[in-house]
Amino acid sequence: MINKRRMNIGIAADHGGFELKEFLIAHLKTVGIEVIDFGAFALDKTDDYPDYIVPLSKALAEKRIERAIAVCGSGVGASIVANKIAGVRAALITEYFSAHQGVEDDDLNMICLGGRITGANSAQELVTAFLNAKFSGEERHVRRLEKISKLELHIHNN
Ligand code: RB5
Repeated sequence: MINKRRMNIGIAADHGGFELKEFLIAHLKTVGIEVIDFGAFALDKTDDYPDYIVPLSKALAEKRIERAIAVCGSGVGASIVANKIAGVRAALITEYFSAHQGVEDDDLNMICLGGRITGANSAQELVTAFLNAKFSGEERHVRRLEKISKLELHIHNN
């Protein structure tokens, strides 16, 4: 059960994640949550995940959305490209503990899933845990995130 706190959520996938993306959009709709779809809008076996994950990541970094769901075949490529965008904290998630603890401790704002790895029902549970979780705001976690933010500044200034 997802808390229906109003939250802008975005989702994107390449061909490897297309089927799971469509499933998750339909599932979220049935529980009353609208998601902004950043594509792909049709299954194209030749498409490239950065073409969808980068616009999703930029929307997250610019705070047009609060949380994001990215799906590719393994979830690896999606997480690699998403973390190139400053302000995005993305991770490939395959189990329940990390789906919520990643948010609570690390302020995870993008869950990456593997459409060829994680089944639809498991993905649904992981997304629910991710969306329901809240950053703890504890000092030690804020301190660690500030170190990451400084690193982003360094990368973007060089
Ligand atoms: C596409 O075939 C596949 O490589 C991609 O979806 C993803 O798994 C990359 O990490």
